[in-house]
Amino acid sequence: MCGIVGYIGSQDAKEILVKGLEKLEYRGYDSSGIAILNESGLHLYKEKGRIAALREVIDSEQGARMGIGHTRWATHGKPSKRNAHPHQSHNGRFTVVHNGVIENYQELKENSLAHIPFSSDTDTEVIVQKLEQLVESGLSVEEAFRQLLLAIKGSYAVAVLDSQDTETIYVGKNKSPLLIGLGSDFHVIASDAMAMLQLTNQFVELLDEEMVILRQHAKTIKNLDGETIQRRPFQVKLDASDIEKGLYPHYMLKEIDEQPVVIRKVISKYQDGQGGILIDPQLRERMTMADRIYIIACGTSYHAGLVGKQLIEKIANIPVEAHIASEFLYNRSILSANPLFIFISQSGETADSRGVLVAIKQMGYPTVTITNVPGSTLSREADYTLLTYAGPEIAVASTKAYTAQIAVLALLAFDSIREKGMEQLYGINPFHELSIAANAMEIMINKKEMMEEVVWQYLTSSRNCFFIGRGVDYYIALEGALKLKEISYIQAEGFAGGELKHGTIALVEEGTPAIALITQSHIRANVRSNVQEIMARGANVCMITMEGSEERGDQIVLPAVHELLTPLVSVIPLQLISYYAAKYRGCDIDKPRNLAKSVTVE
Ligand code: F6R
Repeated sequence: MCGIVGYIGSQDAKEILVKGLEKLEYRGYDSSGIAILNESGLHLYKEKGRIAALREVIDSEQGARMGIGHTRWATHGKPSKRNAHPHQSHNGRFTVVHNGVIENYQELKENSLAHIPFSSDTDTEVIVQKLEQLVESGLSVEEAFRQLLLAIKGSYAVAVLDSQDTETIYVGKNKSPLLIGLGSDFHVIASDAMAMLQLTNQFVELLDEEMVILRQHAKTIKNLDGETIQRRPFQVKLDASDIEKGLYPHYMLKEIDEQPVVIRKVISKYQDGQGGILIDPQLRERMTMADRIYIIACGTSYHAGLVGKQLIEKIANIPVEAHIASEFLYNRSILSANPLFIFISQSGETADSRGVLVAIKQMGYPTVTITNVPGSTLSREADYTLLTYAGPEIAVASTKAYTAQIAVLALLAFDSIREKGMEQLYGINPFHELSIAANAMEIMINKKEMMEEVVWQYLTSSRNCFFIGRGVDYYIALEGALKLKEISYIQAEGFAGGELKHGTIALVEEGTPAIALITQSHIRANVRSNVQEIMARGANVCMITMEGSEERGDQIVLPAVHELLTPLVSVIPLQLISYYAAKYRGCDIDKPRNLAKSVTVE
C-alpha cells in the first residue's frame, strides 16, 4: 500500500522517479507526487488519480539530481491533491513521502504540534512538522531525524528532503518495506526492487528501526541508538523484462497465461534429483511432529490455504485449520499442544498476516511462510520459507501466485508423508500429477473464446452472480467469486451447494446467473441436485465439470487430473470469466478501484 521512491545521483531525477512510481503503481493509485530539489529550491508536483495525471503537471524545464516520489492508497484522508504526498512542513523546509501508518499522529498533533497549521488530513504530515520542530529546537537535521523516528509509532518507510541541503536524503524504516539501490554514481530507494530495476540490481536491505543518511556517493545506515551498521548488498535476480507486459493488453491476462509454466517451475525447483521433494528436512520433521496445522492468510491466499487444508488433511492426515489473518489476530482459536503455523502470502508483506506471525513467534511456535517474494518480511521472520517461484505478479488480482501456492502446499503435504514412510500410500508421484495438471491448465487457457462466450451468455446484463460447489469446489467457488467482484464489480458470492436451501436460495430469481463446479466424484450427484434446485427457480447455470463425469449440456469440461489437484485447473475458467466480464464492462482490470496489491496496513 503506497509506494515510495527516491534518487540522488548525476542524472535527471524527475524521469527516474516517475518511471519508478509507474512500476509501483500496483501498490496504490489514487494520487501521486514527486518533489525534486535543485539549486533554485524545491519543486513539488502532485495530482489526484493515476501517475499519468502526475506526468501532465510536471514542469519539463525543471531539472534536478535528487528527489523523492510517492504513489498513494489512501488510509488517513480521502484521495485528493491536498492529501497526496509529498507533504511539507509549515515553513516549507522539509518534504516527506511515507508508506505506512503513524499510529500516534493524533496524539502528536494535539500535544507537541498543537500550534502548527496542518495542510492535509493525513497522518504523514506530522513527520515533517515534528522534524521541523526538532530542528528549530537546535538539533542537527540528522539528530532531529533520529529523534523523530523515536517519537513516531507505527509503520513507516519514509524519505525526507531538506531544502537547505542538496546533498542528502534522510530515510527511515519500520515495518514497511524499503530497499536502497546501489549504482556507481547514484543511490536510489524504493518500496520494491521492481521500481528501480532499470537502474540497478544491487540492493541493500533496511531492517526495522533503521535510518539512512543517503548521498550520491555514500550511505550511512544507523540504528535508532545512532550506531552505524554495515550491511552487505544482495543481487536481485530479476530482469527488467520480467515486469513488462509485452504484447498483452493486461498483466492479469499475461499472468493467467503464465500459470502452466509456473507450475512446471515449481516442479523443477522442488525436485531433489532422486525423485524426492526438496524441502528442508527440519521442516519435514516439524510437519510430522505437529498435532495441528494452522494456516493463516488473507484474500486469495486464504483461499489457497483452504485448498491446502484439504490437501494436507487428505494426504498427510494432519488436522488443519485455515484462518483469515485479520480475524485470527484478535480472535484466536484455542491452540493445540504442538501446532505448526503456515503463513501464505504472495507479497510476503501483508500486515494482517504479519501481525499474527509476530504474535505466534512470541509464543515460540514454529512458523513457515509460503511466499512469492524472497527476502520479504514474512519470509525473513518465519523459521522456514517455501518460495512459489511465480515471478512478479503485477495485476492486483492474484492468479498465478494462487495456483503456485496450491502446488507448493501439495508438495509440502506429500513431503510430510515421506518421513512417515507413507509415500507409497496413494501410489502417487506428485511431480507427475502436477505435470498433468499443468498440461490441463494449458488446455483451459487455450479456450479463451469459450470463457468469453460464457460472459456473453451469463454475465452481460447481470449485477450479481453465484458460484457454488461442495468440498474443495466450494473453496474454488469462493475464489471465483472474489475474482469476479474485485475486477468487474459484479456482486458475486461463493456458496457451499448444500447451504443454499438454508437461506441464500431466496435470492434466486428468473435469470440469476450461477456457476457450478463439479469436480469431485463422491459429491457429484449432490451438487447436481443443488443445481436442479436453483434451476427450478429460474437460475441460469453454467456447469464446470471434469472429463469422465460430464453430462450432456455441461458448458465447460475440464481435462481429467488427479482429484486432489483439480483446483489448479478449475480455477482457470473462473479467472478468465472474471477477466472477460471486467473487460466487457470497461473496468480497469489490472488496477481495480479502491484496491492495492500489497496491503501493508491492518
Ligand atoms: C485478490 C488478492 C488479495 C490478496 C490478499 C493477500 O486477488 O490478490 O485478496 O490475496 O490481499 O495478499 P498476499 O498474498 O500478498 O498476502
